[in-house]
Amino acid sequence: MVQRYDRTAGRTAWSCPSNIAIVKYWGKRPVQLPMNPSLSISLEHCRTETSVAFSYEPGRTEPRIRFRLEGMARPDFEARIQTYTSSLLKELPLLAGCSLEIDSRNSFPHSSGIASSASAMGALALCYLELSMIIEGERITQPDPGRASRLARLGSGSAARSLFPGIALWGSSDAWPGSSDEMAIELKGFHPAFEKAHDSILLISTEKKAVSSSEGHRIMEAHPYASSRYRQATANASRLRGILRDGDWPGFIAVMEEEALSLHGLMMSGRPSYLLMRPGSLAVIEKLKAFRADTGLHLGFTLDAGANVHLIYDRTHRHQVMDFIDRDLVQYCKNGQVIHDNMGKGPLRTG
Ligand code: PMV
Repeated sequence: MVQRYDRTAGRTAWSCPSNIAIVKYWGKRPVQLPMNPSLSISLEHCRTETSVAFSYEPGRTEPRIRFRLEGMARPDFEARIQTYTSSLLKELPLLAGCSLEIDSRNSFPHSSGIASSASAMGALALCYLELSMIIEGERITQPDPGRASRLARLGSGSAARSLFPGIALWGSSDAWPGSSDEMAIELKGFHPAFEKAHDSILLISTEKKAVSSSEGHRIMEAHPYASSRYRQATANASRLRGILRDGDWPGFIAVMEEEALSLHGLMMSGRPSYLLMRPGSLAVIEKLKAFRADTGLHLGFTLDAGANVHLIYDRTHRHQVMDFIDRDLVQYCKNGQVIHDNMGKGPLRTG
């Protein structure tokens, strides 16, 4: 259903979730295209909510931007958003004539060590897409998530996967029809055993990482293991097809943990080499393995480019896992901080 009307000023607002990668994106080529397919779970509670108040004047050639995070001016982020917005002008030329007042807030604690770029770029891409449609005089009830995913990708690769509910795949893979390097797709029809998978995020360190993800992607360009890594990730994305269809939790955990340790192995074996895990990350992994061997529960771990450990588990085990965290793991978390999240329903319009 398309309604047409004129608008030169207005406001768009979206909330977009963060995601946790099961198969990792690590290594890219221009323009922000992945070297291998990656697959992630969209979260429910870790989100960014962004609103964009806009006014449009034809004839202007550069967007004017004011950005606030949690109500505070942030010139550092504003500069990045200005660059990102200018990079979208080919896709969304009407942005050039806009004054944009952007307000963003994250649901997760500030400087928790949880990357907000995926949820932030996802929310901003949806706001931009919708406001361009409004200025064009077209209001479609839902902006196309594939198109929003492509726009979000240009801001942060992993953001491409945040535009969908449940499970998303980004990067072309022979095993997944319809997959593409340009944008992520929603994976439908996975086994109900994975619905509402839970993710408890143990905040081992909340310090800014010593090496950024952009630098990590760059190091991959001359990494001695790059080509075998891309083959491994491509094979893991394919293996997950049967695993997700069959509800095979042990298979899922095996792939997820191999991916997490490969990612950190690449950091340790790159040039230059670096380490983002902390002693607490390793202690949690060792305890988790012992607990799983004792209980046989469907519980595994993954890490992104940082020290924090995500425990991913079947929600039917949530009481045992919560007790385990409180008893054995919380001591490794900075100020005892743990964020409990689960598979979510994707972006929401909030304005
Ligand atoms: O989207 P970027 O450029 O911040 O890269 C993120 C990469 C990882 O989080 C480590 C893995 C992933 O696939 O999300």
